[in-house]
Amino acid sequence: MFVRNAWYCAGWDYEITQSKSSLVTRKIAGDRVVLYRKPDGGVVAFEDRCPHRQAALSLGRKEGDSLRCMYHGLKFGPDGKCTEVPGQSTIPERACLRAYPVQEKDNWVWVWMGNPAKADPALLPFAVGPSDPGWNVKTSKMHVKTNYRNEIANLADLSHITWIHENTVGGSRRYTEVAPKFELTPRGLNTLFWARSCPAAGAAKHLFPPDALFDICFNIQHTIPCTWVLHYRMFTAGTATEGESNGTLILDTWSSQAVTPCDEDSVDYYYSWGASNATDFPGASDMLREAVDIAFREDAVQLEAQHQRIKEKPDMKLLDIALDAGPGKILWVLDRLLKEEAAQGQQQPLVQAA
Ligand code: FES
Ligand SMILES: [Fe+2]
Repeated sequence: MFVRNAWYCAGWDYEITQSKSSLVTRKIAGDRVVLYRKPDGGVVAFEDRCPHRQAALSLGRKEGDSLRCMYHGLKFGPDGKCTEVPGQSTIPERACLRAYPVQEKDNWVWVWMGNPAKADPALLPFAVGPSDPGWNVKTSKMHVKTNYRNEIANLADLSHITWIHENTVGGSRRYTEVAPKFELTPRGLNTLFWARSCPAAGAAKHLFPPDALFDICFNIQHTIPCTWVLHYRMFTAGTATEGESNGTLILDTWSSQAVTPCDEDSVDYYYSWGASNATDFPGASDMLREAVDIAFREDAVQLEAQHQRIKEKPDMKLLDIALDAGPGKILWVLDRLLKEEAAQGQQQPLVQAA
């Protein structure tokens, strides 16, 4: 089950180029989608399925701002309407593609998977992309064979960085002792998490004396279907036990992450991390990006194994512990949106482009 009326990240803008062969295929919320960039720079997203015999349009050919299926040659304009059927002069009324609304923001390409009339750019989540001049943001991506609910729950529970990410982005028991401050939003959850007097994360420990301690702030905007945007700041350990640290800010960063469900068994994960111009130092942002590349592979191993087990015993009664508060809240928001759409009949397949 997926929320349909939502923007889903279809990748980094640089993945969809003007090159002749750049037809990008994705599976998003169960739909196969093909994306390409028109000569004017705009991005088009269609269902990656020819209405003639279900050939993959991503195996087709760009012709100006149109796309031609390279099985029997049907040609479609950027609005999804067929403009040519080789071998006949008439074009059947049904010869059209489902076209998805597309937006580009913060170097991400977003596709609206629901009713096009409801596609609201105001719902595009906040993020800090690599073209933001104030931040040295580096990007990456990976595919994970797990259900997206497992990824959402993972991101809403920072305590796991103690264990899974012992040598990368976590590694201290302090992360399990923090009481996060949660704030529900209409389509998500904001979380403020201070780990005070904490050793540096595993991937950065070598930069500091062994006994160095820090106040680390995680300020997170988590939205459904799944964007997780983290303002991560690291201060020398101060004496404040509430509110802002009174130590010295030594690293100010943003990490923007989008988890796009492909189907019930896998996700595409697009993410970045980078330091502010003011606190960056040579190699720092590359080190951060490398750390999350390794860390998210650590998550993937755990989440893929978890997914297999949940599929084997979907009805097993699970144990709940205090650290489940964040996952419980964000999955409650997801389930509320799913229920609202089901009540509005939004789960049915949508009409094709006119
Ligand atoms: S399957 Fe596309 S033209 Fe025949
Ligand atoms: Fe993780």
